[in-house]
Amino acid sequence: MEFSVKSGSPEKQRSACIVVGVFEPRRLSAIAEQLDEISEGYISNLLRRGDLEGKSGQMLLLHHVPNILSERVLLVGCGKERELDERQYRQIISKTINTLNETGSMEAVCFLSELHVKGRDTYWKVRQAVEATQDCLYSFNSLKTRKEEPRRPLRKIVFNVPTRRELPIGERAIAHGLGVSEGISTCKNVANMPPNICNPAYLAEQAKILENEYEKISTHIVDEKEMGELGMGSYLAVGRGSVNESMMSVINYQGGETDQAPIVLVGKGLTFDSGGISIKPGEGMDEMKYDMGGAAAVLGAMHSLAELDLPINVIGVLAGCENMPDANAYRPGDILTTMSGQTVEVLNTDAEGRLVLCDALTYVERFEPEAVIDVATLTGACIVALGKHATGLMSSHNPLAHELLNASEQSGDRAWRLPLWDDYHEQLESPFADFTNLGGRAAGTITAACFLSKFTKKYNWAHLDIAGTAWRSGGKDKGSTGRPVNMLTQFLLNRSGAEQGE
Ligand code: BES
Ligand code: MN
Ligand code: ZN
Repeated sequence: MEFSVKSGSPEKQRSACIVVGVFEPRRLSAIAEQLDEISEGYISNLLRRGDLEGKSGQMLLLHHVPNILSERVLLVGCGKERELDERQYRQIISKTINTLNETGSMEAVCFLSELHVKGRDTYWKVRQAVEATQDCLYSFNSLKTRKEEPRRPLRKIVFNVPTRRELPIGERAIAHGLGVSEGISTCKNVANMPPNICNPAYLAEQAKILENEYEKISTHIVDEKEMGELGMGSYLAVGRGSVNESMMSVINYQGGETDQAPIVLVGKGLTFDSGGISIKPGEGMDEMKYDMGGAAAVLGAMHSLAELDLPINVIGVLAGCENMPDANAYRPGDILTTMSGQTVEVLNTDAEGRLVLCDALTYVERFEPEAVIDVATLTGACIVALGKHATGLMSSHNPLAHELLNASEQSGDRAWRLPLWDDYHEQLESPFADFTNLGGRAAGTITAACFLSKFTKKYNWAHLDIAGTAWRSGGKDKGSTGRPVNMLTQFLLNRSGAEQGE
């Protein structure tokens, strides 16, 4: 897709389609008003006859509108003018893109970027429009032998901005939107890959591809032999039942000064989580291929970061592993020694994510990080708590938590904070080891984070539980969402001091 910005009047555009908004009830937006005048009331006549109410997401495609140079005019319902919020804006853009894609317009000039969205500037509106477009044009069909593609797909879209002064801002928004979308699409591609192809070695290959593509990236793969030497007894135990070797990929992006402390992102990379000996029920088990969604998001964020060429140091860790039942598998009752030296009694082999992450979190101490953020499809309880809309955020460091919440607010990639009080730790007490890997039914998302917090004392740390947000379940809509690449990349953009809106 090709994106550009322009500042012009609608009647002067010579395009396959121009896209303008109509509010409810039957009220023309300023731009639609201009078209109406030129066309001598053609549009207002249609509205009066009841062809379009203006409800959010309604579409009316017109051909040969009098005195208009463009072949088509797409009227887009935007709901009540005063109620247009961020979420609706994105939905309207998505619907528009789908319509354009289906109705044979290969290029379009879109005036929806001039709509008023409360508290949002041109930068935000153009960037969100680019991201929404790329998101809805995404498809994963590399493993289908017969690919369905639109006959005349949308190729080029121009977003209009109100004044020429805003052109550079719009261009920056496009560049950022494309950089973010690139990472989101990388995340979706690896996450959607089936577990017979996407195993820990496959994740490592993806990490190596980034190294080859970008000068500023170097990648190191920690294999089982090295994990053994490092004493990563907990991580190794989880992978022991699988024939696929555990591999931790360490992606080092050097964009800042050599002595600048890095930000470290750690992703849970369970390429399949069967539950192990504490095996999961069969229904929907295929979706546990998405248990590497954290690693996929870290890979995606590293890709975006490199694409945007940000002047900071970031290290991305993909904690690749597979959890399988086997004669060699670890068992409930086993006591493991973690890399930190602390011992863990395994009460459920399905609480494996924390066992892999804890050693990865100890490993990254060596980088003396500025901050560490781990990303994990860690607990089903997070879906119970927050549903599919928000990522769970937990942190022992208030400023970092606020920075992440800000980034999530800016990017529209929602997150919500849960508490991490000391009170919860007693749920992890063990009679035989330093603690167990199971906190019981109450507050499962928080006790999982409490477990991790025992390994993150040496730096500022935040934890993102993406169990509800990493993918969409069921039917033909199933698929990776690419979350929370946007939020992470926004956090990095903010950290690098990159200029954004006005
Ligand atoms: N990967 C799962 C969590 C999960 C389940 C994410 C469903 C998304 C959808 C994790 O490894 C797991 O199995 N967690 C257990 C923890 C429990 C045994 C303490 C869970 O959530 O049931
Ligand atoms: Mn599990
Ligand atoms: Zn898991």
